[in-house]
Amino acid sequence: MVTIPLEDSYTDIIGKAMRGLQIEHNALAAQAGVDGAKLQALCDGEFSLDTAARIAPLLGLNAAALHALAEKRYAPASVTLDGLAMFNTPFEDMTVNAYLVWDPATNEAAVFDTGADASGMIDEARTRGLTIKHIFITHTHGDHIFDLDRLREKTGAAVWSGNREPVDGTNVFSVGHSWHLGSLKIDTRLTWGHSPGGVTYVVTGLARPVAVVGDSIFAGSMGGGKVSYAAALKCNVDEIMTLMPETVICPGHGPLTSVGEESRNNPFFAK
Ligand SMILES: [Fe+2]
Repeated sequence: MVTIPLEDSYTDIIGKAMRGLQIEHNALAAQAGVDGAKLQALCDGEFSLDTAARIAPLLGLNAAALHALAEKRYAPASVTLDGLAMFNTPFEDMTVNAYLVWDPATNEAAVFDTGADASGMIDEARTRGLTIKHIFITHTHGDHIFDLDRLREKTGAAVWSGNREPVDGTNVFSVGHSWHLGSLKIDTRLTWGHSPGGVTYVVTGLARPVAVVGDSIFAGSMGGGKVSYAAALKCNVDEIMTLMPETVICPGHGPLTSVGEESRNNPFFAK
């Protein structure tokens, strides 16, 4: 599997927290007792542990985790799991992830989001002899559902989206609904805040549990709280970080990670 870099730098994370908490630069410097120029330097990429340690508690961030990101010391362990494949496709100036999950016993499969180009997933399913029965949508941002029409046409699979953020022409479910896929079970949790009704899909039955989280959490960061930063943070803490530590997190951008690794290394969640 290709190594995918972390989605966010420590400066991105500080920016997300400041925007989310609506704390302006000058107010943050004053509250932290930090010189404005020093804070600006930190925000410009010149890391100082002293400055980071002063502002981090006001932003609900972990300074040691920011430090590790600044020094590029954090990369989640690579994940190999029978029944899970990740597809990372270029979209504008970034890349986006989509996932194929299958029951190795029955070869029944489901797709989570489409990414910019679903042809890799379609080819992989054909090569493995999988039958794609469902297409699940995490949220409706364009990069995640860009290739939906083609994927639906090629597979004939049922397409599902959550009732708080429905996609036209799909089957709409109430979050909390679950499905069986061979011997696997797929449960849903509401993880809104980045978008109005984002859904996290939790798959159990493989060697490790899998959580397909959309843009709720990234390795080392989280999605921007475009709709509600407070809700995004709360949903992440309550609905994702409470899953078992070995749970594989499949984010919409950046590399695969796990609940355990994020609980130790993600500045938003590390204690
Ligand atoms: Fe998004």
